Amino acid sequence: MKTAVFRKANFNSAHRLYNRNWTDDKNDGVFGLCNNPNFHGHNYDLIVKLTGDIDAETGYVFDMKILNDIIKEEIIERFDHKNLNLDTVEFKDLNPTAENIAKVIYDILRVKIAYAFELEITLYETPRNYVVYPA
Ligand code: NI
Repeated sequence: MKTAVFRKANFNSAHRLYNRNWTDDKNDGVFGLCNNPNFHGHNYDLIVKLTGDIDAETGYVFDMKILNDIIKEEIIERFDHKNLNLDTVEFKDLNPTAENIAKVIYDILRVKIAYAFELEITLYETPRNYVVYPA
């Protein structure tokens, strides 16, 4: 049986959701408050789940200090206190929805963590709205 370990992290970012191919009215209709042209912020809560075998020598699935360092260096330093639309290359041409942010985080972390571990990203945009990738 595999065991899952979880690490929580948090970052604050600004964004604006819009589709540049749509009219202002259509963007307002679809994205509502998240379409505010002057941007707005969210306090994102991130949960990184790793699933794997318990190592016989350490008793760990994964060293949480190492996982924390990877999350800090690769995700928090990249996105915390940034405007996702303006300050990051990842969302220059990608709508920074929670869905897309979770997928981007997965893709960044996936190459940093050995494939022996299954990776899952949970991202809370608000206490009531969150996404899981992959589903
Ligand atoms: Ni928003």
